[in-house]
Amino acid sequence: MKVKLNVNGRLREADVEPRKTLLDTLREDFLLVGSHAGCEHGVCGACTVLIDGEPSRACLMFAVQADGYEITTIEGLAPAPGELSIVQDAFCETHGLQCGYCTPGMILTAHALLTQNDAPTRDDIVEAISGNICRCTGYGQIVEAVEFAADRLRKTNAPRDPQAAVADEPPAGRPAKSKAPQEGILEAAQIDALRGGRS
Ligand code: FES
Ligand code: FES
Repeated sequence: MKVKLNVNGRLREADVEPRKTLLDTLREDFLLVGSHAGCEHGVCGACTVLIDGEPSRACLMFAVQADGYEITTIEGLAPAPGELSIVQDAFCETHGLQCGYCTPGMILTAHALLTQNDAPTRDDIVEAISGNICRCTGYGQIVEAVEFAADRLRKTNAPRDPQAAVADEPPAGRPAKSKAPQEGILEAAQIDALRGGRS
């Protein structure tokens, strides 16, 4: 059946089986391959897209169900070809991506968080990304990326001053070198604890 989907501000048409997921439609029919297939069971968050601004699992939604909503994929965040959004740039600058497979979903989730709250606490950030699994366990840099993007959004989007990060008061128990947590694995445990607390 024919669907007309509003993706990244553009109406796109496809002829799909009613059972075809939004994720497969985005990737196969619209060639928007930034949304990734991980678990395809709603667990990992690699397929995250924004539906009317809210992070949603594209693997759990049929394309026909997305009719009438505004869908944003990672391809829709860049302000112009060859440019990066503030959140994308912050992920690059803080090395918030390793293999990159989870990164589009992480960035969209972070974008949604910062749209609603440009001064999130560390706990806010950890909770927001708790539905996005990074198999590389590089959560430390990811959290730092979101903090950095929030800081830029609140201020002037000035380039990062490495000396400022060094001079900042360190969190309790952490060296004054950087705001980034030193052990990504501890952040993963924290995220697991949060997820457990909600279920
Ligand atoms: S691929 Fe959708 S949640 Fe994992
Ligand atoms: S960067 Fe590798 S899974 Fe997230």
